[in-house]
Amino acid sequence: MTKKILVLPGDGIGPEIIAAAINVLKKLQSDFGLNVEMESALVGGAAYDAHGKPLPEATLKLAKEADAVLLGAVGSPKYESLDIAVRPEKGLLGLRAELSLFSNLRPAFLYPQLIASSTLKPDVVSGLDIMIVRELTGGIYFGEPRGIRRLENGERQGFNTLVYAESEIRRIGRSAFDTAMKRNKQLCSVDKANVLECTELWREVMIELSKDYPEVVLSHMYVDNAAMQLVRAPRQFDVMVTTNMFGDILSDTAAMLTGSIGMLPSASLDAEGKGMYEPIHGSAPDIAGKNRANPLATLLSVAMMLRYTLNEAELANRLEHAVNAVLNQGLRTVDIASEGATVVGTSQMGEAVVTALETVS
Ligand code: IPM
Ligand code: MG
Repeated sequence: MTKKILVLPGDGIGPEIIAAAINVLKKLQSDFGLNVEMESALVGGAAYDAHGKPLPEATLKLAKEADAVLLGAVGSPKYESLDIAVRPEKGLLGLRAELSLFSNLRPAFLYPQLIASSTLKPDVVSGLDIMIVRELTGGIYFGEPRGIRRLENGERQGFNTLVYAESEIRRIGRSAFDTAMKRNKQLCSVDKANVLECTELWREVMIELSKDYPEVVLSHMYVDNAAMQLVRAPRQFDVMVTTNMFGDILSDTAAMLTGSIGMLPSASLDAEGKGMYEPIHGSAPDIAGKNRANPLATLLSVAMMLRYTLNEAELANRLEHAVNAVLNQGLRTVDIASEGATVVGTSQMGEAVVTALETVS
């Protein structure tokens, strides 16, 4: 059956990196039997400019009808003065919430070819392969009440609420234990249970769940220590599971261990495996439109889409091997270029991957 992909280029470098992804998908359609239909729509600042809102109803409807959503990036300093309710980021948060994409998989994998690009010493990061499972539709990002209010003494007070129901913790926990079962069966749950009751419950529920996964070794770490351990000895981690905000922060840290945030994909999944796929980097407005962005995180996000939603594991492998092949050829976008590398632009890197699809398996 033909699967539907909704493509949302978004803002900044979004359209350039998504163009590279569309070329890859077209190649997979024409030469490798991928059976998909693609449609494109506006989100983020681009949607605000056209319709006055970052997530227009038409876009949300298409996203609900699609089997998978492929997103570029949202946001630009241009929109920073807008009311928070209509900022580009609300488009992304709205999609996550409306599609119930509670499980966010963020791999941090170091390609050996890029070891020189990491700011950490090679012996600390070589062989790094971590999967961060971030809760994505709850916690302080969505908790109520929230806002900025006026106190009796006249000063303003900002407030947000960190809240997790047991069922929310349990479903992200299951997702993380299932992920660990497919990897090295080590799961580290990150919380702040020494201070926050909400994450005390988080820890309790993870311990309860662990009884259903006797093969998985569950450990717990406070988030401040986890941040330190990620840069001290990151290879101790296999799978990490954590709350929405802690996951936001730790996944950027983990990304930098691999040399460039421009290499890292992500999948945001619902309970049925429907997903939204996006690079974890942002819209990089400073380099937008300059053919300088690294499209590989987006192409690796396409590989995750092939694997998790489209059930095309062989094509996912082929695409990942093609990315590996262009790195072996020495091609580098500027973010991953070390001395002596052949620096190419976004479109050249994308074309090289399309060509490599033919030669790898
Ligand atoms: C991410 C981003 C988003 C987040 C922003 C753009 C809302 O930083 O996907 O990590 O905070 O979740
Ligand atoms: Mg982030």
